[in-house]
Amino acid sequence: MNSIGLYGLGVMGQSLVLNIASKGYKIAVCNRSKDVVKEFKDNRVKDLPISCYEDIKEFVDSLKKPRMILIMVQAGKAVDAVIEQFKPYLDEKDILVDCGNSYYKDTIRRVEECKKDGICFFGAGVSGGEMGALYGPSIMPSGDKEAYEHLKPILNAISAKAEDGAACCTYIGDSGSGHYVKMVHNGIEYGDIQIICEAYDIMSRVLKMPIDEIQKVFDKWNKGKLSSYLIDITSKILTVKDEKTNKYLVEVILDKAGQKGTGKWTSMEGLDLGVGIPTIAESVFARCLSAIKDKRLKAAALYDEEVIMHVDKDSLLKALENAVYCAKIISYAQGFALLKEASDSYNWDLNYGEIAMIWRNGCIIRAAFLQDIKKAYDEEDIVDNLIMTKHFSAILKENIAALRQVTIAAIGNGVYVPCLSSALEYYDGYRSPRLPANLLQAQRDFFGAHTYERLDEKGSFHTKWEEIEY
Ligand code: 6PG
Repeated sequence: MNSIGLYGLGVMGQSLVLNIASKGYKIAVCNRSKDVVKEFKDNRVKDLPISCYEDIKEFVDSLKKPRMILIMVQAGKAVDAVIEQFKPYLDEKDILVDCGNSYYKDTIRRVEECKKDGICFFGAGVSGGEMGALYGPSIMPSGDKEAYEHLKPILNAISAKAEDGAACCTYIGDSGSGHYVKMVHNGIEYGDIQIICEAYDIMSRVLKMPIDEIQKVFDKWNKGKLSSYLIDITSKILTVKDEKTNKYLVEVILDKAGQKGTGKWTSMEGLDLGVGIPTIAESVFARCLSAIKDKRLKAAALYDEEVIMHVDKDSLLKALENAVYCAKIISYAQGFALLKEASDSYNWDLNYGEIAMIWRNGCIIRAAFLQDIKKAYDEEDIVDNLIMTKHFSAILKENIAALRQVTIAAIGNGVYVPCLSSALEYYDGYRSPRLPANLLQAQRDFFGAHTYERLDEKGSFHTKWEEIEY
């Protein structure tokens, strides 16, 4: 009998299967298209303990009970279709594990629907792309605790290991929380990516540095406090030449960004829960703006204003590393603030330090920096916002001037830096003892009698701001 099954032999699915089999687990695989099963069997199975099935029933019957089936299909309707397809063959207590980037509300719904048939639906966020899936992803499992005990040994075995050997996998919490945490991971990923792109743009358009010089900067950053997977791949990307034009490949790639929705969902959650996550949201809007290339070209012709502010190259370049560091801290602080609000609102009791620990390796935002986040949570009993912790406030106090200098230089030269600037704005807003919301409340009360509170007296007040003549 096979220990586990996996349905969905896309790029991620195939890699996960090879990972599981390489750890010695007997695994059964199946896929909607039979050709893919055949091709996988012919080319990738080799002498690994993998059994390939074209028939769903045979696939299910080959599994030890309670059956554990990982589903690795595109998020959305495909997941519901797969569940329906399996239902007739499953027994009570069998476990379906959705490893895709599913929307957490869908996961919660599916858990309830499957419960009616006695089936355990379990959500697990998996990060790390193809290579992560193959050699060890970061895994964010959530759902029924008993089911997790069955899954735990395999998930731990296949997950990435941090430098100290710890598995980058931990039980996140109740139904939906694993996909939620993965969604926020992706929101933070969007922010990180955009911040890096803005730093590249500043070097390119403000400092007029050629690609090979920019590459050296990223390479250097990767050896310091910004050391991370995303900085590392950026430095690698900037070495690759295009065979056709002999230019750097990045220079011939169309500047229109794609997105699959997880950044948007994170931003929507910020709005739903009333948590300000402007840096993450701006990274989504930056992709939206990039996508309207034709319109941008027309606007560029219409508004050909030359904006030039003189900058000192050495000073700006030195500030840039610290500016990126500050923006990164502020962006992560927003992501973790969202996790806190979600944990309180949905009763998940999330362990933020543990979440940071399982992001240290395997996932797209992996970085040594995550260890500092864990430390910040360990050092303080209650953390409302990471920028208020001893560790990160000391860093921000020392380096925020760099973020200000860089943002001013970019804006002064007409370069679009929504994430760097929104991180600075968030910092300035968060530390403002008084905001102009007093006037805002007065306006709301003026036109809609929405009432306001006072600084000097409790209660709700309304003023007749002007005499109305009927
Ligand atoms: C990961 C990635 C992965 C995927 C992104 C890409 O953690 O492994 O986040 O899930 O590559 O979702 O998302 P976009 O297509 O929206 O950039």
